[in-house]
Amino acid sequence: MLPPALYWQDNRLFILDQRMLPGAVMFLQCRTYEDVAVAIESLAVRGAPAIGIAAAFGIALGASPGRDEARLAAARLALTRPTAVNLFWALARMEKKIASLPDGNIFEGLLAEAEAILEEDAACNRAMGRAGAALLPPDCTVITHCNAGALATGGHGTALGVIRSARDEGKRVKVFSCETRPVLQGARLTVWELMEDGIDVTLICDNMAGALMKKGGIDAVIVGADRIAANGDTANKIGTYSLAVMAARHNIPFYVAAPLSTIDPGLPSGDCIPIEERRAEELKRLPGGGMLPDDYKIWNPAFDVTEAELITAIITERGVLRPPFDEINNLFPREVE
Ligand code: MRU
Repeated sequence: MLPPALYWQDNRLFILDQRMLPGAVMFLQCRTYEDVAVAIESLAVRGAPAIGIAAAFGIALGASPGRDEARLAAARLALTRPTAVNLFWALARMEKKIASLPDGNIFEGLLAEAEAILEEDAACNRAMGRAGAALLPPDCTVITHCNAGALATGGHGTALGVIRSARDEGKRVKVFSCETRPVLQGARLTVWELMEDGIDVTLICDNMAGALMKKGGIDAVIVGADRIAANGDTANKIGTYSLAVMAARHNIPFYVAAPLSTIDPGLPSGDCIPIEERRAEELKRLPGGGMLPDDYKIWNPAFDVTEAELITAIITERGVLRPPFDEINNLFPREVE
């Protein structure tokens, strides 16, 4: 059985430590917002929606005794990871709640809001799953990248949610999961998650995807997203852009599955999306356990941007958006001053 990415119990946030997967299922117990911040920074919890949800609970943990403390927690959590906009979306929603709660103990109100964010995310993923499953043929083979599954969300998953829903509707779905260097979210998390759920999955190295597409038989590429700009440009795990280019070359539909909380309508294009660069050690670690020499120069961006023109459709809980993605503006009407 697949464990949840996180849950609240006994005034603590339990976070599934995804660094230990697939070897061990262990939960971190977060008692403070700093515990949550460190869990996000260290990738114990990862995936855009899950980061936002964890941060929302982190603010509740910080809300003792009041508003100022909750805002301090929010400021700390905002520094954890820059690319996934779901983090900032959740922090903004919690800030609204902080401001609206009556004076006194605001903890219960903030906890209820964090729980609502968690439940709404799982519901969005199911809606997205239904919308996305309709795009897949009854017998299909897809490629996915990184982990955009239940482990990365409040449940069901975004890209893997589409696959799950298609399977639940009786479609026969085979999945190729890219290993997703350097942190191996595909190899360690997606393959494990799909196998736990009885879905047919095969692991490939990232550099095998082109050859696989050329061989034929791939019906779609489906990925999640960390931030989508107003024009549809999409930031997702490093390597996504290469997959999109190769999918275009082979006439394979390239789908992004993401909730509206991943869309940043204030950003005109992907050029404005901040891309996290992570520690060189992530690349230096060798499969056998050794390390590359210290003096190796390393570039380690965690995400890349896929231009909207390479995306066949963006699957959201409000339906399937198609190029040129003008619908994004309608979904986020500008607030009248
Ligand atoms: O660095 P990570 O593991 O947080 O990166 C995660 C991804 O890139 C996912 O594809 C994205 O957040 C979507 S998760 C539903």
